[in-house]
Amino acid sequence: ANTKTDKNDCLLKICELLENKIDYYNWVGFYFRNGKKEELILGPYVGEPTDHTIIPFGKGICGQVAVSNKNFVVPDVAAQDNYIACSITVKAEIVVPIFVNGENIGQIDIDSNTPDPFTEEDERFLEFVCSKVAEIL
Ligand code: SME
Repeated sequence: ANTKTDKNDCLLKICELLENKIDYYNWVGFYFRNGKKEELILGPYVGEPTDHTIIPFGKGICGQVAVSNKNFVVPDVAAQDNYIACSITVKAEIVVPIFVNGENIGQIDIDSNTPDPFTEEDERFLEFVCSKVAEIL
């Protein structure tokens, strides 16, 4: 069986690969539901350290995706009022939920320093990544 360490190594490698290969992916990380609590907890990530290691459901882009179960593409973070800023360099964000047995158990979160960089191709690609991640959790 996969241990927690194996899984986290694998998730970190995915973050590194995405951040390295796609130039407008500047912070890449995973948040997961914290047991039965209505909050997200930060998992493996690459990029600047963030203070936001715990995010309540409903708060920020991530917290909204925990509730909506839908992708959230933000072309301009400055235009969002329910947004948690992690770095002043960030211009845009995409969050895609991870489903295991139909349940939203977490998400991939990507910040970009480029304005409005994310397309439907990113959404389809990240949905695929999340479906693969779901298989190893
Ligand atoms: N911007 C996110 C918070 C997480 S950081 O991007 C790492 C949000 O509004 O939920």
